Amino acid sequence: MAQFTLPKNSKIKKGQDHKLAAGGGGGRTKTFKIYRYDPESGQNPHYDTFELDLDSTGPMVLDALIKIKNEIDPTLTFRRSCREGICGSCSMNIEGTNGLACTTAIEDYKGDVRITPLPAMDVVKDLVPDFTHFFAQYASIEPWLKTKTPAPSGKERLQSPDDRSKLDGLYECILCACCSSSCPSYWWNSDRFLGPAILLQAYRWLADSRDELTGERLDELEDPFRLYRCHTIMNCANVCPKGLNPAKAIAETKKLLVERAV
Ligand code: SF4
Ligand code: SF4
Ligand code: FES
Repeated sequence: MAQFTLPKNSKIKKGQDHKLAAGGGGGRTKTFKIYRYDPESGQNPHYDTFELDLDSTGPMVLDALIKIKNEIDPTLTFRRSCREGICGSCSMNIEGTNGLACTTAIEDYKGDVRITPLPAMDVVKDLVPDFTHFFAQYASIEPWLKTKTPAPSGKERLQSPDDRSKLDGLYECILCACCSSSCPSYWWNSDRFLGPAILLQAYRWLADSRDELTGERLDELEDPFRLYRCHTIMNCANVCPKGLNPAKAIAETKKLLVERAV
């Protein structure tokens, strides 16, 4: 049987325990086990645990993180902005599933809550993944309206309600990367496979009746790695916190490629 040796710094160690003072919490307590890592420290990652009084904590996982940062450990690092599922900043892995900390309720979990950064992405610090490559892939699909003909003089380019509705299920994507970081094909080939989030975004422009560079966009995608590494495993659709279906967008893109070939 093949034997693998993990690099020394991949082992996650036990960190500090922050318990509530005796009697604190009146029974309504919850323990959060949080991944901590500072690549510049040269130390291995570790899990710190924080016990919180739920009666003085907001209802969402993000509320717990903010409370920990404000009241227990100001060095805890995570991203957040809107706190209502719009900005996509607070994506992380909560009890084994990718999601948004701000729209995930603490009470959905029976026991302790383990929180780690999005999997298969480099870590900048603690719960902050490095999105540099992800956003470079997003830029590579040229996510803006591209046209060849001039717009009607002094007017915007119009769409029928029917054409506009073709963007539903696509425009809502907040680029949180929950889907891409849960896709096994993206784990193994993220250098060349665009992954579900970026492919859904690419299809958003293919589906836009106003865009006039559909052929060129399809040329860019017609590649054994960029598009065709999707094997319809469906993790992407299962984790999307906005209820979107990147696998369907990928299938529609493949269909467009077949249609233009016949
Ligand atoms: S359906 Fe495709 S993109 Fe979605 S998780 Fe599976 S392989 Fe990845
Ligand atoms: S498709 Fe869903 S999970 Fe993927 S980046 Fe967009 S909003 Fe996030
Ligand atoms: S803080 Fe904006 S999506 Fe969670």
